[in-house]
Amino acid sequence: MSHPLFDLSGRVALVTGAGGGFGGAISKGFAEAGADLLITDINAETLRATEEKVRPIGHRVAPAVGDITDPQSIRAIFERLDQEYGRIDVLVTCAGPAWTTKPEDLSLDDLERTLKSLGIGKFYCCQEAGRRMLAQGRGSIINIGSIAGVTALGRGHIAYGMGMAAIVEMTRELSTEWSGRGVRANVILPAQVPNDNNKLNERMRVDPILRATFLRGIPMGRLGRSEDIVGPAIFLASDASSWVTGIVLPMDGGNLAKNAGGSHPGMPGETANL
Ligand SMILES: NC(=O)c1ccc[n+]([C@@H]2O[C@H](COP(=O)([O-])OP(=O)(O)OC[C@H]3O[C@@H](n4cnc5c(N)ncnc54)[C@H](O)[C@@H]3O)[C@@H](O)[C@H]2O)c1
Repeated sequence: MSHPLFDLSGRVALVTGAGGGFGGAISKGFAEAGADLLITDINAETLRATEEKVRPIGHRVAPAVGDITDPQSIRAIFERLDQEYGRIDVLVTCAGPAWTTKPEDLSLDDLERTLKSLGIGKFYCCQEAGRRMLAQGRGSIINIGSIAGVTALGRGHIAYGMGMAAIVEMTRELSTEWSGRGVRANVILPAQVPNDNNKLNERMRVDPILRATFLRGIPMGRLGRSEDIVGPAIFLASDASSWVTGIVLPMDGGNLAKNAGGSHPGMPGETANL
């Protein structure tokens, strides 16, 4: 039996990017913990697939196709939420498309639309949710960022890193402004988590050095799985984290704890035996 502090029964959660790896896993995990859901994604087909996985669990689930880079579309998603539930207890912002390449080749258009997606789109979702949560006097916002928001990845991730850094700082500001009025805000930073959409497996097949590069940074010795985010998300959504706000929570197999010059047992190519 699970501990009651992790029980989400009677809570309403809105999950963006719900057709994707993290959004799909979190939607299913939240429903299993008892939550009712508004799931949203730009892709109607993958959104339907998540809805089909979640509905048999037995709680309410309402799908809304929408684009989190378009303020009008975000407003429509929240109007749907108001009609369906009239409240929101948890927001999880998984959707965050990015367009990026090496700094010397990056076009300002790609930089702008990445910052618009990661910075402005996520902010507007937080603002719409936050206004409702402040009126209720309670709520939990969980932003999905990336380790790229606090450390540089290289390999053409400059726009992505700039956008992800904005998510980290936005979360700290929201926590500082809103937690005294009952609204907590936290951010999870995943490291590399292959799934069908992000083509990481395919990229590692084409370039085997890439897998070794990733694993050199992960003391736990494996890449992530989308399901790895479910526990941290339920913790942050639930009363189990009632005095936890403003945190930047790595979900990275130990990546951020390790200095780039460090080594760990089992690291590919590791020869030092000190
Ligand atoms: N998987 C990883 O390795 C990893 C690591 C760190 C951070 N992240 C970040 O976490 C977030 C989610 O990652 P994921 O692995 O679940 O990705 P994913 O590609 O599996 O899922 C993202 C979902 O967002 C949807 N989406 C894309 N553009 C949208 C838009 N404009 N409006 C609404 N929905 C849109 C997609 O249709 C997709 O279903 C992304 O921002 C990603 O950059 C992922």
